[in-house]
Amino acid sequence: MGDDTWITITNRKCSRKKTPSHQPHPSPNFPQSPRRTTPSEADISTLESTIRTHRARFKSTTFSQDLTTILERALRHRTSPETEPEIDHAVCLALGSLSTENLELARRSRWQFVAFLEMCDILCRSYEVGMAGGRSSEGEAGGGMGMKMVAQDPLFSELDQRVLGRFGVEVVEGSGAEGFVTERSFLYAPFLEQGVLLGEILKGRDPLLYVGVAPGAMEWWVENRDCTGEYGDLVEEFGKRRAVTELPGDFEFGGTIFEGLSVCWRSIEDEEG
Ligand SMILES: C[S@@+](CC[C@H](N)C(=O)[O-])C[C@H]1O[C@@H](n2cnc3c(N)ncnc32)[C@H](O)[C@@H]1O
Repeated sequence: MGDDTWITITNRKCSRKKTPSHQPHPSPNFPQSPRRTTPSEADISTLESTIRTHRARFKSTTFSQDLTTILERALRHRTSPETEPEIDHAVCLALGSLSTENLELARRSRWQFVAFLEMCDILCRSYEVGMAGGRSSEGEAGGGMGMKMVAQDPLFSELDQRVLGRFGVEVVEGSGAEGFVTERSFLYAPFLEQGVLLGEILKGRDPLLYVGVAPGAMEWWVENRDCTGEYGDLVEEFGKRRAVTELPGDFEFGGTIFEGLSVCWRSIEDEEG
């Protein structure tokens, strides 16, 4: 099992003015590497089965229905039957460890991972494609062409990596997942530290669909940290070109796990205009 601390990989330079009030955890600890031990098959199967159970439960929630409605609306707005699927990569950052001994953090990571799988399924259904590489998010054989799922978090343990793999998600070790963030990506970054998000992930990149902290909260952070000079234009540009819908704040299995996250998609009108 991994440690319950967070590592932030960043080169950010801005100063810190105040503690942001919207952080999901009041005092994250920095940084410690997770222990790298080879997990047993029993541990892998147990966590895999826990995730599958979570998935079945997630599907029964009102939150999941609302999420589906929001995403389908975004995609209806984006796609026409003539166009090829617009998203080829789903990039999942900042889940934290699914197997940390800190049960509260593990719970957040697991539900956030399940939401990622669910969103990938919605995208594939809407585009009528499978997961690239021949596996669905349930780890079953699927069609050739489609969407590839990748994930990165410095806190992933070996066990996390193996379990993510069972769901068809390829783990990028170290940093480098930002290379998959293109105009044809779905970027999911639940509460990724803002300095990393802006300085290393979004800078120079324009994902088609993004689920994470909304442009309004980015703006707040930038002003609060005196980073307007460095990130002001980026945040303004990112927000200007996107439609934004907040995720419902009341998730049945854990109130605040998704509270503060939004679905943001590039608006067609802005591209044409
Ligand atoms: C504020 S925590 C959020 C954890 C979890 N999503 C939650 O809501 O509880 C930020 C997470 O980002 C991860 N992180 C930091 N730098 C990262 C990077 N460059 N790529 C991916 N994840 C990163 C940290 O390890 C940590 O798990």
